[in-house]
Amino acid sequence: MHLPKAELHLHIEGTLEPELAFTLAARNGVELPYADTEQLRTAYLFDDLQSFLDLYYALMTVLRTEDDFTELADAYLARAAAQGVRHAEIFFDPQAHTARGVEIGTVIEGLGRALEASEEKHGVSTQLIMCFLRDESAESALATLRAAEPYLHRISAVGLDSAEVGHPPAKFREVYEAAAALGLRKVAHAGEEGPPAYIREALDVLGVERVDHGLRCMEDPELVARLVADRVPLTLCPLSNVRLRAVGVLEEHPLPAMMDAGLLCTVNSDDPAYFGGYVGDTFHAVHEALGLDREQLRTLARNSFEAAFLDHDEERRAR
Ligand code: ADE
Ligand code: ZN
Repeated sequence: MHLPKAELHLHIEGTLEPELAFTLAARNGVELPYADTEQLRTAYLFDDLQSFLDLYYALMTVLRTEDDFTELADAYLARAAAQGVRHAEIFFDPQAHTARGVEIGTVIEGLGRALEASEEKHGVSTQLIMCFLRDESAESALATLRAAEPYLHRISAVGLDSAEVGHPPAKFREVYEAAAALGLRKVAHAGEEGPPAYIREALDVLGVERVDHGLRCMEDPELVARLVADRVPLTLCPLSNVRLRAVGVLEEHPLPAMMDAGLLCTVNSDDPAYFGGYVGDTFHAVHEALGLDREQLRTLARNSFEAAFLDHDEERRAR
C-alpha cells in the first residue's frame, strides 16, 4: 500500500521508537523507569489522550542534543520513505524541550539538519510546523514564538496540540495573529476529543487553513457543510483515534462517511511509535478494516498533496 503520498499530521516526538529511546537514554545518562523495550511496550495501553501524553512527555526526556533530534527525524524519514511518503509536514513541540532545559535552537537545528538532507537522502521533501502546547499559557506560547524568530527560515507554520478539552483555540488568538504577521501558515488540532465548537473557533478565531483531526465535526451537519464548501482539509489519524479511544474499533471509524460527505480527508499516523503503524500501515489498515477500495485510497493520497503546503511545481515534483 505504498502509493505516493504526503504526511501532514506527524509529531516527530511521537516517532521515538523504544529501541532509540533506550539508546539515547544510555548515551545521555537518563534513567527510564522501564527495564527494557519489552517492558516499555507494555505501557502502550491508553485510556484517552491524557494517558498517552503522560508517557509521550516522559519518554522524550531522552532527547537532549542536536544529534539526538537529527537521529530521531532521520529515522522517521527513512521509515516514511519506505512507505511511499514523498512529502512530510512535521510537527514538533518546542515547549516540551525548553521546559527541561534544552535550548530551542538545539531542537530546531537538530531537526533541520535531518530535514535539509531528506530530499537527497530519502526522496522526501519536508516542512516543519511548530506547535504550541495548549495546556500551557498563551504567554508561554508567545514567548516560544519570539524565541523561534532566529530560526524562522526553518519553519513553515504554527500548530496547536496537547490536552484539548478545557483549552479552546481562542486562548491562542494573539499568538496566531503574531505568527501570521511573521508570514507563518496556521493549523491546529481541533475536534479530536474537544467539541465541534473548537473546530469553528480554530477556523474563525485562529484562521487555520487545515484542521488536525476534526473528527468530531460529524456531530454538527452545518459545520460539515461549511468544511465541504470551503474545502478545508482534515488530517485524520484513524489508528490514533482507536488507541486513544475516540473511536471504539477501527471498523467503526467514520472515515468512509466523512469521505462520502465530501470532506477533504487525509490519513496520517500522528504518533506512529505509539499507535501501531506508520502512514503506509495506516492506509493498509483502513483498506482492511473499512473496506476502502483502491480508488478511495488513491483519493486519500491525492488529497494529501492538495492539502499540503506545496506550491504547484513542488506538488507536481512530489507526486
Ligand atoms: N501530541 C502528540 N500527539 C497528539 C495528539 N494526538 N493530540 C494532541 N496532542 C498531541
Ligand atoms: Zn496529533
